[in-house]
Amino acid sequence: MILVTGSTGLVGSHLLLDLIQKGFPVRALYRKEDQVSRVRRLFDLYLDSAQEQFVRIRWIKGDILDIGSLEEAMSGVTDVYHTAAILTFNPRRAGELISTNRQGTANVVNMALQNNIRKLCHVSSVTTIAKTVQEKIITEESPWKSVRNQVPYAVSKIESEREVWRGIAEGLNAVIVNPGMILGWGDTRRDSGRLIPALSRMTRFYTSGTTGMVGVRDVSRAMVMLMESSISGERFILNAENVSFRRLTEIVATALEKPRPSVKIPAAALGISWRLDHVRSLLTGREPFITRAIAENARKKTCYSGEKITRVLPFEYTPIDDVVREVCGQIKKEQRR
Ligand SMILES: NC(=O)c1ccc[n+]([C@@H]2O[C@H](COP(=O)([O-])OP(=O)(O)OC[C@H]3O[C@@H](n4cnc5c(N)ncnc54)[C@H](OP(=O)(O)O)[C@@H]3O)[C@@H](O)[C@H]2O)c1
Repeated sequence: MILVTGSTGLVGSHLLLDLIQKGFPVRALYRKEDQVSRVRRLFDLYLDSAQEQFVRIRWIKGDILDIGSLEEAMSGVTDVYHTAAILTFNPRRAGELISTNRQGTANVVNMALQNNIRKLCHVSSVTTIAKTVQEKIITEESPWKSVRNQVPYAVSKIESEREVWRGIAEGLNAVIVNPGMILGWGDTRRDSGRLIPALSRMTRFYTSGTTGMVGVRDVSRAMVMLMESSISGERFILNAENVSFRRLTEIVATALEKPRPSVKIPAAALGISWRLDHVRSLLTGREPFITRAIAENARKKTCYSGEKITRVLPFEYTPIDDVVREVCGQIKKEQRR
């Protein structure tokens, strides 16, 4: 039996799709019913026999911070895909972010050790790896980021990945993936699923940054392949390409037949935007759309190498053009419903 945590999220839902299609018995940890219906919509987007496949998932209500529910979810499980985490750049959620990601991962690792599971795959992030002055491209060999002066999300991912390395030192058979920015069809109310829909509404504008990107289907496929391999105690950056935000916007614009990007958003405008959005968020209590960290990342140029996995497994990345075109196709399909 396989357990997927974070099963209603961008990565978790695509993992469910892949694991169920491969015929595995799968248990999915979830918190809210309305999020489960989004997974059903994802199955509808991809499969003709969606209902038939969907009913094979065994749903278990629980929380990675609730040891009792985790104990129940993990009983009889051999393999764990741990994707549950909070992903936000909202500074007001720092406490919740760090406790969920670090303590939640510590709980999953401890329970996996206690249950003597066969193998665990943890989703970390490229945000745990630092860029040195000498390096142009970040690899798995690059040093860990220090938790000092990092945004809370990065601190939470560094500390949660450390929990997995601690588990490995204590005998856990585990492998870690460190994806760049993940692109795919997801919940547009979350940071994980809002990028492409947001770009599609303002294709004339672009920012100067570049970052590593990978399609969610590749992330899921890589995780399954790593779990099926004998590889253990290693981390793998998952990065199809380093793409500028201008290029990304261009691909979205072409796919959705919208105006191409021609206006670069100046740094000062980004600075004003996050400050105004911060005030809006304080007044309305809603999640900020653009934070200081997002504004800064939109201008940064950071490049990663995702080659390591292609050297050890017969794994090939899907080009980002194809990933974005597929997501835009899904957005159009959803809008027609
Ligand atoms: N998206 C990216 O660009 C990206 C890039 C690099 C790494 N990552 C990492 O990839 C992993 C998956 O991210 P994602 O993009 O799939 O995020 P997501 O779409 O926001 O999904 C997060 C999932 O975690 C669940 N979750 C949060 N807190 C939980 C708790 N206390 N107990 C149980 N479940 C909980 C959520 O459940 P609810 O539905 O109930 O909220 C949801 O299913 C995360 O570790 C993230 O840090 C993501």
